[in-house]
Amino acid sequence: MAISPAEFSRRRTTFLERLGGVAAVIPAAALVTHHADVEHSFRQQSDFWYLTGFDEPGAVALFLPHRPDNPFVLFVEPKDPTAEVWNGFRWGCEGAVQRFGADLAHPRADLAGRLGDYLKGAEGIAFRVGRHPAVEPLVLSAWSAQLDRAPRNGQAALGLVAPCPLLHELRLRKSEAELERMRLAARISAEAHELARQVARPGLNERQVQAVIEQHFMEQGARGPAYGSIVAGGDNACVLHYTSNNAPLADGDLLLIDAGCSLSDYYNGDITRTFPVNGCFSGEQRALYDLVLAAQEAAIAAVRPAADAEQVHGVALRVLVEGLVDLGLLRGAVEGLIEQGAYRHLYMHRTGHWLGLDVHDVGAYRLGEHPVPLEPGMVLTVEPGLYVSDRLPPPEGQPAIDERWKGIGIRIEDDVAVSERGHEVLTAAAQKSVAAIQR
Ligand code: GLY
Ligand code: MN
Ligand code: MN
Repeated sequence: MAISPAEFSRRRTTFLERLGGVAAVIPAAALVTHHADVEHSFRQQSDFWYLTGFDEPGAVALFLPHRPDNPFVLFVEPKDPTAEVWNGFRWGCEGAVQRFGADLAHPRADLAGRLGDYLKGAEGIAFRVGRHPAVEPLVLSAWSAQLDRAPRNGQAALGLVAPCPLLHELRLRKSEAELERMRLAARISAEAHELARQVARPGLNERQVQAVIEQHFMEQGARGPAYGSIVAGGDNACVLHYTSNNAPLADGDLLLIDAGCSLSDYYNGDITRTFPVNGCFSGEQRALYDLVLAAQEAAIAAVRPAADAEQVHGVALRVLVEGLVDLGLLRGAVEGLIEQGAYRHLYMHRTGHWLGLDVHDVGAYRLGEHPVPLEPGMVLTVEPGLYVSDRLPPPEGQPAIDERWKGIGIRIEDDVAVSERGHEVLTAAAQKSVAAIQR
């Protein structure tokens, strides 16, 4: 079930409470040009979405705790039959109030003229500088005008602050309704991986596998891929952000697929699976696959309340480095290899990230010296990998890599929610055991 209007309203109430006497200006996303006069399909800004559920470009939300009678004000593109014939339906000001719970709504064009009045009396202004070029000058000039008048009326906001820490702390902890959406995103994404494994065979192009995955996303009602799907055969899998997806799948290669869907309300799945194109691992592929799977399972087992993402990474890293030493791909004492980062030509990324409305979701990983402890409701990916190629040379003292290992890229990624009792793997329906993926 979609997030209810009551939940959006609760989010706003909590945000307003946390703001204290500071007013927040939260802009929607703007349309982005793709080429000539064609735009990318619209993607709402996640902070704005989290607080409003309003899916149109160019809007601006104000949160005004110093005006308790009408603390939530939306500026939106007004109803306009001609514009709507070309670009689609708009809710307009009336819809912003009736459907989206705004206390007051105005045409977006009135923002410059009204912002100063709305911000009057706020102790500070929460606005993310550097991200919203159409709104930032309006905020700065409203504040500057307050400062000009301050000697006479003593009413200027004392500072410009970032809304992010407050808001992102809220977004980091998912409600039960959000977890339900993430279970759905995970299920659709997992099904797509199962379909991809069924169709993949030597000679098929990576792009044809991408089509199967993304068709499933959309057939199931998702908006589409949450990020550029990575469908990478053989050595292409050693390029972490490979999205060309345009090579034929070779007999004897592995296929790495990193793909997840984004739902209509932007909750995302993010899954990676790696399997043999012809259904049968070579000895080297199997050895590395077993190692990545062992690292991933150990890391998932470490996800529980009061643990932290750095510990989860540390568990995966230790298993990988121990295994690489056993296989002769690294040389030395495990502790020292980890400390020196001597594994980074084979494993060059972290083991996971927060997941939510953004794929690399918001929320701090550290507060000063301290890693943020995991709590029920937080969702993170667990995605160790190994990438053996010539791209990065082994560091001094580490063995040259034998040709038989090269061109093997493996990542295994699940979406894991922290629960009271430990964790819930949201993406368990995507198979990863050797028994399930060998033909
Ligand atoms: N698909 C992006 C990531 O795994 O982080
Ligand atoms: Mn990920
Ligand atoms: Mn991924």
